[in-house]
Amino acid sequence: MALPKKMVFVAAARPNFMKIAPMIREASRYPDLLKPILVHTGQHYDPAMSQTFFDQLGIPSPDINLEIGSGTHAQQTGQVMIRFEQFLLEEHPDMVVVVGDVNSTLACSLAATKLHIKVAHVEAGLRSFDRKMPEEINRLATDAIADLLFTTSEEASLQLQKEGIPDARIQFVGNVMIDTLIHQKERAIQSAYYKTLGLTEKKYALLTLHRPSNVDDQEILSRIFEALDVISKDFTIIFPVHPRTRNRIQEFNLVGKVNSEGIEPNTINLVNPLGYNEMLNLTYHAGLVLTDSGGLQEETTVLGIPCVTLRENTERPITVEVGTNILAGNRKDGILNAYQQARSKLSQAKIPTFWDGKASERIIQRLIEVIC
Ligand code: UD1
Repeated sequence: MALPKKMVFVAAARPNFMKIAPMIREASRYPDLLKPILVHTGQHYDPAMSQTFFDQLGIPSPDINLEIGSGTHAQQTGQVMIRFEQFLLEEHPDMVVVVGDVNSTLACSLAATKLHIKVAHVEAGLRSFDRKMPEEINRLATDAIADLLFTTSEEASLQLQKEGIPDARIQFVGNVMIDTLIHQKERAIQSAYYKTLGLTEKKYALLTLHRPSNVDDQEILSRIFEALDVISKDFTIIFPVHPRTRNRIQEFNLVGKVNSEGIEPNTINLVNPLGYNEMLNLTYHAGLVLTDSGGLQEETTVLGIPCVTLRENTERPITVEVGTNILAGNRKDGILNAYQQARSKLSQAKIPTFWDGKASERIIQRLIEVIC
């Protein structure tokens, strides 16, 4: 009998872990056909940004950690390419599966395609049309070279067609991030986590902020805090803070705008980054989510929670078209306007097609057809 095909899954940064978890679980159901191998590039390395997710989502320990850590875009991308190429030359896998749009996604796709190893990109075809976002460059370049492009919406498939990618390379499969949400939901929402923080159901807002375009500019970040200050008079804000944002808050002397000692009502309360289950619990019970994350726009859409996205654009327009998401930009007036609108949008919200917990099944079936 033929040996199982070696299928490498690449994980690098926090939003990748919930995307690879259901695919590894699914691939592991076919031990005669597939040998899943997990590579962690080490782009995120703090336990709260990485190991917690492995523990909570039952992801097996990585077979290898490339330990590239932080750096400029070129340093990160270059280091991942060099170390991943070495790994590929030793391991000779049959397929590399990359997810999302982080620097490691592009770096691993480049290294693999140049060695003529097939690459599948999960979450392909998303476009913000904003080339100032590093992720947009990563998305465009990865989609241009990957062999198989799995999309979360028909719009994303259409976008890839417009870019000249042949139909045979594109498949609309749904959303693997929602596979994880559905898998974890009961456990996460039934715990009383939000109560342990002293929060009251639907009376608080959950905030996340980490995009360089929002947090790396002092004026923009100060402006966002002005708007949040107004919102915090209606909703106590809980703010699990990304390390990049924590550094900027200190650098820009904005520490006085937030409370870091426990939770105070009608304040912006800063807490350390949280695990997946704690975040899902806080999202589900929140009255409102304020965010610049991509994943939260999708998760709030499925959970029917009003979401104000602190960005001018989104690569996930379906969350605005059918979901609960409202684009606010990062100016004070825009944020406050969107905040007022957010709650009335709920009644028309729907769950997008194939965001049904079965995206990983569709992906692994196709990959088996292609390599086995
Ligand atoms: C990266 C992704 C972004 C994703 C985000 C999720 C790119 C270009 N960006 O952005 O798309 O939405 O992850 O978090 O790939 N740091 C730590 N501990 C860590 C990781 C990072 O302290 O475990 C700090 C370091 O100061 C680092 C900074 O955060 O320089 C930024 O990390 P980096 O991986 O460069 O980008 P993110 O902003 O996390």
